[in-house]
Amino acid sequence: MNWRVYYSVNYGDSRLGCDEMEEDVTIYEMGPRDGLQNEKKLIATQDKIRLVDAITDCGFTKVEVTSFVSPKWVPQMSDAAEVLEGIDRNKDVTYAALTPNIKGFNRALSAQATEVAIFAAATEGFSQANINCSIEASLARFAPVLKAAREHGILVRGCVSCVTDCPYDGEVDPASVVRVAKALTNMGCYEISLADTIGSGTPDQVAKMLDAVLNELPADRLAGHFHDTNGRALENIAVSLEKGLRVFDASVGGLGGCPYAPGATGNVATEAVVDMVENMGYETGLNLEKLSQVAIFAQSLVQTNELF
Ligand code: HMG
Ligand code: MG
Repeated sequence: MNWRVYYSVNYGDSRLGCDEMEEDVTIYEMGPRDGLQNEKKLIATQDKIRLVDAITDCGFTKVEVTSFVSPKWVPQMSDAAEVLEGIDRNKDVTYAALTPNIKGFNRALSAQATEVAIFAAATEGFSQANINCSIEASLARFAPVLKAAREHGILVRGCVSCVTDCPYDGEVDPASVVRVAKALTNMGCYEISLADTIGSGTPDQVAKMLDAVLNELPADRLAGHFHDTNGRALENIAVSLEKGLRVFDASVGGLGGCPYAPGATGNVATEAVVDMVENMGYETGLNLEKLSQVAIFAQSLVQTNELF
């Protein structure tokens, strides 16, 4: 079911009222990181820089540019510092990087990332596969990152993977999501991005998971991060909007996936999210026409890559 049908079936005419018509939705652009990290052949650093600059030009205020992870684990992100060095910075834009540990944080700091994201999982299976440690050990690893970030005045975002299903442990109990989301918040993350890593979550699962998390954390501290493997990401965003979330991660051109979530496809395409939420009456501040061009460019990077 597409989002328009889903929305009208489930929410009827309860579209936004006049008071809410100008409410903002923020899209956190993930393309250069979540979109490209899964590509097998190395994409040229200059192309990554062009992509980030083109994204900035669309009006985004938040861009996850790269990750400072182990280059042995994710070789595609090994040029993280060069990418951050090469981009044209706009002072109103946050240029973020994913950092799994203090080594990653220090590299991100040297490269002048303006925000970092730490990433945990709601399941032990994914935590082990993705960052090679238990959930508890990952939280212990993040503590020095948060301490150093505080000292340097850098905001830290938290991400919780596998909020509905895990490729290793199966369906996820919302209580596990709550536990990790709360732990990251208590440690100092300003926002928690709740990720359907394998894109298999249904709107009902997402609603139940959000109800559980919202019992403990306010909607304005949460974001949705939906991969679109089963084509239900837009419906899941519609449900999240209904629950009060206003920040969504998305990947221009729908690129990507996670190397440690076999078979999962990319984040929901940014241009589709913008189209949907603007049709619902929200403002994103993004130029959809430019974004469509960037989506073509982003996809061409991947296609060219696959050909050679
Ligand atoms: P490990 O092998 O257990 O770590 O990996 P280690 O501490 O034993 O270090 C091993 C080697 O890596 C050492 O080098 C370290 O120096 C080096 P060696 O002595 O062998 O030469 N190392 C690093 N090098 C550069 N930067 C670093 C770093 N850390 C260690 N930061 C580790 C543990 C966490 C590092 C590894 O498992 C890793 O890098 N994992 C990242 C995997 C990844 O990037 N996954 C994709 C991103 S997450 C995602 O996509 C999900 C998300 O989108 C949300 C969702 O959809 O669910 C966020
Ligand atoms: Mg992801």
